[in-house]
Amino acid sequence: MTTLNIGIILGSTRQGRVSPQVGEWVKGIADARGDANYEIVDIADFKLPMFGESDSYAEAQAWAAKLATLDGFVFIVQEYNHSLSGALKNALDSARDEWNNKAAGIVSYGSAGGARAAEHLRGILGELSVADVRVHPLLSLFTDFENGSVFKPADLHAANVNAMLDQVLAWSGALKTLRQ
Ligand SMILES: Cc1cc2nc3c(=O)[nH]c(=O)nc-3n(C[C@H](O)[C@H](O)[C@H](O)COP(=O)(O)O)c2cc1C
Repeated sequence: MTTLNIGIILGSTRQGRVSPQVGEWVKGIADARGDANYEIVDIADFKLPMFGESDSYAEAQAWAAKLATLDGFVFIVQEYNHSLSGALKNALDSARDEWNNKAAGIVSYGSAGGARAAEHLRGILGELSVADVRVHPLLSLFTDFENGSVFKPADLHAANVNAMLDQVLAWSGALKTLRQ
């Protein structure tokens, strides 16, 4: 069986964001499993224009080409005004077929664990034919970060991340058969 490629997608792009800390933590747990190729996919690197506004499709094509190499996703989701960030919504809108028939897990954070943002994301993923798994680690800005900026996750979350990855890998492998 071929090794699956799983992208850990950083959902925020603002200066001073904490998503790289969370993404690297998830990648550390994932890499220790040795069961797939895990990579950080940073939306900020792609400099995506707002969907449809640019005459140049180069950035969106590069984004879609990256997604096409992936079999599944872990979204690092932060809560902005009770929803997901504009940057993540734009990145979701900026590709279509490359999302289809793949699996995803969500790791979210916010004052209420980012739960509201994650639930909004699940609705969008349904439209993109991305199968989002049940297990969902929720991180608190109050107890898993110092001063809301230095990530210090409670120990209990690592087991949840592994359980989420178990489900993402199972469904990513199953859905890959639909795309062949
Ligand atoms: C524009 C904006 C709106 C926010 N709205 C919420 C919110 O509705 N609920 C919440 O729990 N946190 C909210 N926050 C706090 C963010 O979840 C927190 O700043 C988090 O670190 C953002 O992720 P990032 O650092 O990766 O950008 C908001 C932050 C920003 C910048």
